[in-house]
Amino acid sequence: MRDIERIQLAGGIEMPTVGFGTYLIPDEVADHAVTQALCAGYRHIDTAESYRNERGVGSAIRKAEDELGLSRSEVFVTTKLWPGNPAWGDPTKTPAETVAAFVASLERLDTEYIDLYLTHAPFAGPQRLDQWRALLELKDGGRARAVGVSNFGVGHLEEIDAAGLPLPTVNQIELHPWSQKLELIDYMEGKGIRAVAYSSLVPLASWRSKEGQKSAKTAEMRAAGERMDSPFRAMAEKYGKSEAQVLLRWAVQKGFVAIPKSISQERMRENLDLFSFEIDTTDMAAIERMDRGGGVAWAAGDPMLTG
Ligand SMILES: NC(=O)c1ccc[n+]([C@@H]2O[C@H](COP(=O)([O-])OP(=O)(O)OC[C@H]3O[C@@H](n4cnc5c(N)ncnc54)[C@H](OP(=O)(O)O)[C@@H]3O)[C@@H](O)[C@H]2O)c1
Repeated sequence: MRDIERIQLAGGIEMPTVGFGTYLIPDEVADHAVTQALCAGYRHIDTAESYRNERGVGSAIRKAEDELGLSRSEVFVTTKLWPGNPAWGDPTKTPAETVAAFVASLERLDTEYIDLYLTHAPFAGPQRLDQWRALLELKDGGRARAVGVSNFGVGHLEEIDAAGLPLPTVNQIELHPWSQKLELIDYMEGKGIRAVAYSSLVPLASWRSKEGQKSAKTAEMRAAGERMDSPFRAMAEKYGKSEAQVLLRWAVQKGFVAIPKSISQERMRENLDLFSFEIDTTDMAAIERMDRGGGVAWAAGDPMLTG
C-alpha cells in the first residue's frame, strides 16, 4: 500500500491529503465502514455532530488500537460543530453551548482530543465571531489540536481577520470542476488557509443518486452531468484510471485535501490510489473551463452564500 501524502498545518500538525468522508453513513453502519476504511489505508476520518454517526466512527477508531495495532495518534480525526441556523428555526449556539457540543462530540467519539474541529457553516450571523472565539479557546486548551471553518466565503473570513483574531487553519468547502471558487481559493492561499474539498465526485452521473440522498443537483444538472461526464471518461481512459480517480486527483493536484465517501471497500481503495498518475497541463486547463459557479451538494443551496 502506497503512503498517503501529508500536508503540514500550522503548529506542525500533519494532515493526510486524502481522508474518508462519512456523511450519509448511518451510525449503525459507521463502525464497519470506518473499520474498512482504516484497513484500506485511510488515516484521516471526517465526521460531524450533524451526521449523527460519531459513536460508530469513534468505536471503529478505538477498536483499531487493539485489532489493527493503530494508535489513536495515527488517525487524524475531524469533526464539526453544528452552529445552529436561525433561518431554519434552529437557535445559534452560544459560546457555552459551543463548548458543550465539543465535549459531547469528544464523548461520542470516545477520544480525549480532536485533531481538527470546524464550525460547519457560517450560519451564526452576529454570533459568528463569538463561536469562533470559543473554538480558539478549545484549541488553546489543547483538546482541539487545530480549529477551522467550513463553507466560509471571503466575507466571512475577512470578518475574522478584521476582528484581529487568528484565522482558521482550514476551510472545508465544496470544490470540484463545476465549483472551483477561484477568488476564494486565491484569498485562502494568500492567508495560508488550507482548502479541504468536499463532494469532489459531484460531476459523476452516479453521485448520491440513491433514494433519500438529497442535494441541489437537480434533474436538469444531472442530465447535464451525463454530458459533462464524457471529458472525464476520456481522461479516465487516457490515464488508465476511473473518472472518480481523475476528479480526486484534480483536487490533490491543486493542493487541496480530498475526503471522498464510499460504503464500498473497492471504491474506498480506488479513491486512495491517486498518487501514481498526474493530470497533464492540457487536461488541467480543460477542467478549469468547466467551472459553473456555486456548489450543489446542499439541498438548500451553497451555504457560503449566507450573509
Ligand atoms: N462541510 C460540509 O458542509 C460538507 C458537505 C458535504 C460533504 N462533506 C464531507 O465530505 C465528504 C465527501 O462528500 P460527499 O459524501 O458529499 O460526496 P463524495 O465523496 O464526493 O461522493 C460520494 C458519492 O459518490 C459515490 N462514490 C464514491 N466513490 C466512488 C467511486 N470511486 N466511483 C463511483 N462512485 C463513487 C458514493 O457512493 P458509494 O458510497 O455507494 O460508493 C456516493 O454516492 C462527506 O462524506 C463529508 O464527510 C462536508
